This record gives sequence, structure tokens and C-alpha cells, in this order.
Amino acid sequence: MSIDEYRRKYAYGEDYGTSYYKYGPIAEKPYVIENRGLFLRGESKLVLKIFGISREIVVGPDVVKYLGSLEDIARYLIYPMKDGIVDRDDKMSWRILYELTKYGFEQTLPETRDFEGFYVTAALSAISPDYMYERIFDIHTRIDSELGAIKAITIIPQPLAVAISEKVVTCVVVESGHGNTQVTPISMYPIRNAIVALNRGGAEADAIASEILRDLGHEDRAREEKFVRMFKESVGLIPRDIDEAIKKAKGDPRRFRTIFRIPGTRIEIDMGEKSWMRFLIGEIVFNPEHELFESYYKRGMPRPRDTIVGGERISGTLPLGEAIEAAVSRTSIELQPSLFRKIILSGGNFAWRVPRGLEDVAVNSAEKIRIQLEQHEIEANVELVSDPIFSVWKGTIVYSLAVPDNYLWDWKKREGWYKRGVHF
Ligand SMILES: Nc1ncnc2c1ncn2[C@@H]1O[C@H](COP(=O)(O)OP(=O)(O)OP(=O)(O)O)[C@@H](O)[C@H]1O
Ligand SMILES: [Mg+2]
Repeated sequence: MSIDEYRRKYAYGEDYGTSYYKYGPIAEKPYVIENRGLFLRGESKLVLKIFGISREIVVGPDVVKYLGSLEDIARYLIYPMKDGIVDRDDKMSWRILYELTKYGFEQTLPETRDFEGFYVTAALSAISPDYMYERIFDIHTRIDSELGAIKAITIIPQPLAVAISEKVVTCVVVESGHGNTQVTPISMYPIRNAIVALNRGGAEADAIASEILRDLGHEDRAREEKFVRMFKESVGLIPRDIDEAIKKAKGDPRRFRTIFRIPGTRIEIDMGEKSWMRFLIGEIVFNPEHELFESYYKRGMPRPRDTIVGGERISGTLPLGEAIEAAVSRTSIELQPSLFRKIILSGGNFAWRVPRGLEDVAVNSAEKIRIQLEQHEIEANVELVSDPIFSVWKGTIVYSLAVPDNYLWDWKKREGWYKRGVHF
């Protein structure tokens, strides 16, 4: 088998998202686990042992098993990434990323005789500092020494992975996950000083969904993260025009009445007269500046934090269309028209559906952005990738296949393989 054939057989991809870690060898779809870890601290090691807990940290689906049970054990559930970033000195969080990464390799390690380690591409936020690259290399070096699982690793920015999986060279990738939204103009490679990163994502839609549950009289559910998430994904809608959608919904409560049910349970939430509120959940993703949200911020819902981009302050509530304009305006005049010609949306926070019969008031993410840009007299082509949650991971696999074996890691370009036998 030639080295290229080998690389094709053992390509592996990783997408470190704020809420989900997507990983796995070349396939149709990645494995997905929540990006979190549970630290268990027993009064005595014996108690842990009796319950068959051999590790101090649990990751993956087992976390749920230990969340509520066993009273004598102190538990710390930690989500290691904030807006795609882990602090340099945050030891617990780095430990969890190590455990998650190792979990993936343990689960997928081939038993084939020819296996000498994967060619791994990891995807990180486009604004990741160098130390995150170093730590991800260190984690893989350590796992390779333990499992022999990694022959070479490289790291790419998440938006570039999307562009690669869509096979486009010049475009704007808007990646919106749970914790952050990155607007990245790309021309072969991300144009770093044009990136606009916003501290907001699906989490903000969760926050308003939780307030709405409170308004509906379900205070207890409003505090249950998982429940809020399901409610949000099920009832949330992106309005074509928020004021008009609300007017229509209030004027025709029978048509718009929304009942949320969880299959397999008796839980049922009837939004009744307040069904119009479902439009708030989608709108906040695109325009958290709308005056409708002011009262929610006043009563304590967190306002998305501002970010500093190239020395300039970007408001955390900047409408998405304007964030795209801001990013494109930082590129050369010649490039701008071709960037607006190809705007690609990816990430779970863009996966909103339009229920049948509501097409007059609800739209998908691509249409919403197109409308926002049109209001600023910009004609743009906007499209949503076919698999918003997995497109970063798909791009990492394509990249693992494409980078030649003898191309070594270069810190200046941030390209190439970081290799066993050369770097570790
Ligand atoms: N059908 C849906 N409608 C609305 N939101 C959805 C849908 N499916 C997933 N989401 C939301 O998408 C978010 C997760 O998306 P994704 O997996 O892209 O994030 P991530 O990669 O973990 O985070 P990040 O990229 O910010 O680091 C969650 O907020 C989730 O509720
Ligand atoms: Mg992501």
C-alpha cells in the first residue's frame, strides 16, 4: 500500500465545538458527544471503587449515569470551552479535552494489521491563539504514546474546513454553533484580519427560550438546560419580518397555536395566546438588537458580550447581516463582489426549519441573511450547507486526504503535518 493509499484509509477528523465534539475516522458521519466532563471526587477512594468508578473524570454518554446518583460523591460538571476557546491556565478544561480526544481514539482504534496510526485533522475556532494549537498537538502526542493511534496531526480553522467541504475557494463562511459565530472571508485561506467573531450562538436562543418558558409558567423547566434546548429547537422559528409575524400571529391565534410535546412522555406545553413568542427565538440569532429584547435584557437575560476585532469594538448584538458587511469591508475592494456572491452558512444554530403552512411568515437561515443584506442594498447569494452540524468535520476529513504526506507543519503558515518521528 502506498503512503497516499494508507492516508486515505486512515484519515480521521475532529471538530472541537463549544457544545459538541464531533470526531471519527473517514465515514458518512462523525460520532458526536457533548463537549463536557464530569469530575468525581469521593470522600474515600473506597466509595468510588465500590461503585465501580475507576476514573476521576467521566466523558461521553456515561456522564448522564453519574449526574444524579451516589450522594457521597462530589461532582463538577465542566464545559471546557467558552466561545470556542480554552484559557491557557485552565487545567481542568484541558484535562477534559484530553479525555474526550482519547475517548474517541479508544472507541475507534482499528484492529487491522496494517494500522500504524491515523492522519488526524483537528478543527479549532478561527480566532484560536497559538497556545491552543500547541496544546492540541501536546494532547495528541500524549495519546499517541499511550495508544499508538496518531501518525500525524494537523489543525485548521473551522471556517476553512467548511469551505473545503463545500469545495469553494473564495467565499464568506458564517459558522454559528452553540457558543460563537464566526464570519470569515476566505480566499484560498481565511483572511485573518477580516474575521468578525461574535460572542453569540445557539446559547442566546436557549436563553430567550428559557425566559419564554418562565412567561408560560414553567419556572422549573426553564432551569433545565436539556429541556430548554429541546423546546427551542422544536418551537423556534425565524420570522421573515418579526413585527409582521407577531402581528399576524396575534391576529390569528387559532392558526398559530403551538403545542410542544416530547414523544414518549406526557409532557406537554401549550403556548396558547403566547404562541407568537416562538418568533423571538429565531430572531435573536439574527438581530439581538431588536427593541423587543430590551425588556428581557433588563430583567437579567445576558446581553451578548462585545468583542474586540483588530482593535475595534464589535457590538455583541450586531445584526448578522451587518457583521457580514463588516467582515467583507475589511477585504480588498476587488475581492468584495466575489465574496458577496458566495456566502455559506454552517453550524447547528442555522439548522432552523420552516414548518409547512407557515412559509408566509417563517424563513430559513439563508433567506433571513439574504433579506438582511438586501435591506442594506447588497445583493448576495446565501446558502446553507446540506449538513450544518457536520460540515466542519467533513472538511477535516477532506483535508486529511489532501495534505501531502511529506508536507511538514509550518507555524507561520499554520499548515502541514505535525508528525510522529519528526515532531514527537
Ligand atoms: N434544528 C435545529 N434548530 C435550531 N437550532 C439547532 C438545531 N439543531 C441544533 N441546533 C443548535 O445548534 C447548536 C449546536 O450547533 P453546533 O454543533 O454547530 O455547535 P458547536 O460546534 O458545539 O459550538 P461552536 O461551533 O459554537 O463551538 C446548539 O445550540 C443547538 O441547540
Ligand atoms: Mg462548531
